[in-house]
Amino acid sequence: MTSINTHEIDIVKAKTSKIDSVDFENLTFGNVFTDHMLVCDYKDGAWEKPIIKPYEHFMIDPSAKVFHYGQAIFEGMKAYKDENDEVWLFRPDQNMERFNKSAVRMAMPEVPEHIFMDGLKTIVDLERNWVKKGIGNTLYLRPFMIAVGSGVIAQPSTQYRFMIILSPAKSYYQGEVKVIIAEHYSRAANGGIGAAKAAGNYSAQFYPQKLAQEKGFQQIIWTDDATHTKLEEAGTMNVFFKINDTLYTAPTSERILDGVTRKSIIDLAKSEGIKIEVRSVLVDELVAAAKDGSLKEIFGAGTAAVVSPIVGFQYKEHYYELPKIENSTALQLKDKLTKIQYKLADDKFGWTV
Ligand code: COI
Repeated sequence: MTSINTHEIDIVKAKTSKIDSVDFENLTFGNVFTDHMLVCDYKDGAWEKPIIKPYEHFMIDPSAKVFHYGQAIFEGMKAYKDENDEVWLFRPDQNMERFNKSAVRMAMPEVPEHIFMDGLKTIVDLERNWVKKGIGNTLYLRPFMIAVGSGVIAQPSTQYRFMIILSPAKSYYQGEVKVIIAEHYSRAANGGIGAAKAAGNYSAQFYPQKLAQEKGFQQIIWTDDATHTKLEEAGTMNVFFKINDTLYTAPTSERILDGVTRKSIIDLAKSEGIKIEVRSVLVDELVAAAKDGSLKEIFGAGTAAVVSPIVGFQYKEHYYELPKIENSTALQLKDKLTKIQYKLADDKFGWTV
């Protein structure tokens, strides 16, 4: 291993790379990781110096709070390679800001910019060979923080570990996406942690998601917990509905994640002259629009999912199929977004870094 001492980050390079053993054309989302990981520990009220080192398992006390109380948060981001072999991040400031909001909500320490952002840029630079050229090829970046302090007393930990791991990725969903509208289970409640990217928000969805998958649906569109009448988000992505000529998406709230792709799609739609309204769509309104033909599209938007068209939804045991639309608004917006991400179009918003 080669050791490099940069001013702020120690780097211990892997002796060999596993890159040649990876089939980049046939990747399942989130299964393969690059050669290195970033680790930075928080102890005695302060962050230590981050280190980038070979990807490996690590030891952790069985009583660590992450295991018992789920004190854990994460982010999802991507790196893209342009035609000139330059590697780009997309709005990483937004992810850092949201990560630290999640940290505050979960009683965890905020990660300073010189660790989060410089760490991210340094590790992505080191792993740049893992970012493949061509639309659809990305390196998925997963910064996360776990409570590693030991002891099963139900109190916030005093010790944490911030890490960044990287995984080459193509699409998140294989094939068509059909959704079911939540009638009983809830993802989040007012005053809860729905707006934080907390690990527990995802595991809490696994059981209802498993029931949905058994019925042939890939995702659930969550509704508000109090009345189950308003459409909110889909757990791995925010959702947009096109009724007649207008796009709608729910406003962010204590129950809905402030998605970076969501807000980029809103800005792109506005700049393309597409009518868009940020307001809650009612389940009844969606069903009525599906019945009278005014519902044109539903699509999800998220970092992993990018823009994923939804082919139909089920509500109260009735399945509503969406019309097949050539050159849909979803695909137009996906095209605009990906061209900015891969530097194939002018980035007038200044989103790429
Ligand atoms: C992302 O889109 O990056 C997410 O964090 C969703 C995750 C469950 C894959």
